[in-house]
Amino acid sequence: MFVRLLAITLSATFVQAHLAAWHKGMYGLNGVSGSINYNTDDVVHPLYQLPKDQWWFHGYNNVPDFPPADGDFLELPVGKSFTVEIASNRGETSLSFGGQYASAWPDGQTYPDDYNVETCITSPNMHTQNETRAAGTAFAISYTSDIKQVTPENLAVFTVRYHTPWKRLTSYDVPADMPACPAGGCICAWGWVPNGCGQPNMYHLPYRCKVTGATSTKAIGTPKPPVWCEGNPDGCTKGPKQMIYWNQQDGNNIEVDGYDAAGDFKSPAYNDKCGFPDGAQNDIFTGASGGSSSSSSTTKVLIV
Ligand SMILES: *[C@@H]1O[C@H](CO)[C@@H](O)[C@H](O)[C@H]1NC(C)=O
Repeated sequence: MFVRLLAITLSATFVQAHLAAWHKGMYGLNGVSGSINYNTDDVVHPLYQLPKDQWWFHGYNNVPDFPPADGDFLELPVGKSFTVEIASNRGETSLSFGGQYASAWPDGQTYPDDYNVETCITSPNMHTQNETRAAGTAFAISYTSDIKQVTPENLAVFTVRYHTPWKRLTSYDVPADMPACPAGGCICAWGWVPNGCGQPNMYHLPYRCKVTGATSTKAIGTPKPPVWCEGNPDGCTKGPKQMIYWNQQDGNNIEVDGYDAAGDFKSPAYNDKCGFPDGAQNDIFTGASGGSSSSSSTTKVLIV
């Protein structure tokens, strides 16, 4: 009963909280207090106008110092998909309380499938008016097991899901040609840059991940920054792309000004406006082939 009251109280308190992709392979799963918090929302807070060491992997509240339990990885099956839970609080996912406070939506509540609020949906805080307008989210991968070795230049977006965040269970497709990770796994990242509906912030979180069923040894090439290319596909960055780093004090890799085709302020996102197709990013394998080997040292960076 105590636990139940706690869950209800906290989720009611955090209506203004934002969203993160939850999985047992994430950093910060238990929160950043040092003890297990089944109601943590330490990872969901947005990143806006911060210095790079504070926004990178949510460093401002030390998320990178709280790795997942040994052996817990986000598993990436080649040519198939994996599922995470997008939610505003761990208490509203299957990772706490046996999932009893989880619903189809990110905040444990129920809404119509065609949920639409012209002035922006704020419960849950999805930064959108409706599903069509949801900006898109992505996962990226770095072929190192050491989170400290990850840089924008070796962290490549490998999958995108248009029209998210939306419902809690969200699946992403893995390219069939993803090579295996080093023995200690890879480091992955989840990213979201909303399109309007509030502060133009971003989300950037770390995970331990590993590719399963890999048969290819094609390496991912060095990712380049995405550029705004709405209505001009030839102008998009081709091949592997970095995540979007925007509206921070430093470390930004994209700049936009003016209005988009819909008449809103341009807001770069994981969608076709920045040259990201929906689903697996199959054009990223531009590195040297044969570079991947599960016997490689755990800190070797295969992206060159
Ligand atoms: C989604 O919201 C936009 C902006 O308010 C609106 O133009 C559009 O018609 C909405 N779409 C749906 C399917 O409700």
